Amino acid sequence: MAKKADRLPSPMMVANDLLWGGWSTFIVAAAVELDVFSSIASGARTAGEIASKANADEFAMRRILDSLAALKYLSRKGDRYSLSPQSAAFLVRESELYMEGIDQFAKSQMMGWFQLAEAVKSGRPLVPPGDDAGRAAFFSILVRCIFPLGFVAAKAAVAAISPARRARIKRILDVGGGAAPWSIPFAQTIRGARVTVLDLPPVTRITREYAAKFGVGDRYGYLEGDLRQVDFGGGYDLITLGHIIHGEGRDAGRRLVERSAEALADRGLLLIAEFIPNNDRTGPAGALMFGINMLLHTPDGDVFTMKEYREWLKAAGFKTIRTIATQAAPSPLILAEK
Ligand SMILES: C[S@@+](CC[C@H](N)C(=O)[O-])C[C@H]1O[C@@H](n2cnc3c(N)ncnc32)[C@H](O)[C@@H]1O
Repeated sequence: MAKKADRLPSPMMVANDLLWGGWSTFIVAAAVELDVFSSIASGARTAGEIASKANADEFAMRRILDSLAALKYLSRKGDRYSLSPQSAAFLVRESELYMEGIDQFAKSQMMGWFQLAEAVKSGRPLVPPGDDAGRAAFFSILVRCIFPLGFVAAKAAVAAISPARRARIKRILDVGGGAAPWSIPFAQTIRGARVTVLDLPPVTRITREYAAKFGVGDRYGYLEGDLRQVDFGGGYDLITLGHIIHGEGRDAGRRLVERSAEALADRGLLLIAEFIPNNDRTGPAGALMFGINMLLHTPDGDVFTMKEYREWLKAAGFKTIRTIATQAAPSPLILAEK
């Protein structure tokens, strides 16, 4: 009997996904909501001190803290907790890369996932696409949360372009710029460069805030409106499409690549940041699951393979296409030259 049981597959995969899979999201979100990371940064070290700052129960807090240590958000020596580098950079209020609002955003996003089976049946998102105001409200929260993702990856992109090549970049268009993580590192490094951000008007308020905070606001200008309709203008040396195409979908995404080619000067660069599954769509799981996220939340959004991006870029007239690997991004960045 025991021998037969040994040959059974382990139930751990199913248990991991279905019995306790989502808990870490809620533990980290609760810790952010309780300002655990900021409290530690400001000197609280023991469960008692941290609980007292959060007006929380000490023994309940200790369980959260120990779980956070097991999840590598904290470390513990004796009864004293300290921050991991990631927590210090992204989850402490005073950090310039604080992922502001990420706890509430994480929880609100979970709600849509409860309806996934129904969305798969219909093939449509269950929540109808919002109007401009609803979209702008959603993105105004999202762009603060995701700023560090783009910012750290864009620094890798800047480093991957030679100083001589960078010196040719004078005009940048950041399409759907949000808080401008994809252009700020270029503006910081290339002192004379001017950036135009195209985004919805309420979101450009946030762009202005971040551009000023990172010391480049005086070189930022704005095109406000719907990116499907606003004329990009022309003569840019670099255009960034940072996490834009997945929300637009195949046809509109391809059109964005074509419009970018038209708006670039000769030898101009297009930087694309996306979730990119392999050409057979067998992985990575994160990129494929992001496609499901788009199914749930957008009418046409999806993820596309490198083969597809290469086809679109070549057809739009780009002559060279390279990728930039960085641990800060879910997939390699694409850098194409016209
Ligand atoms: C996923 S966010 C990416 C923001 C930024 N590029 C980043 O990576 O952090 C999508 C951005 O596109 C903007 N956006 C979405 N739909 C838009 C539209 N129809 N017209 C203009 N901007 C739009 C949003 O406001 C948001 O800033």
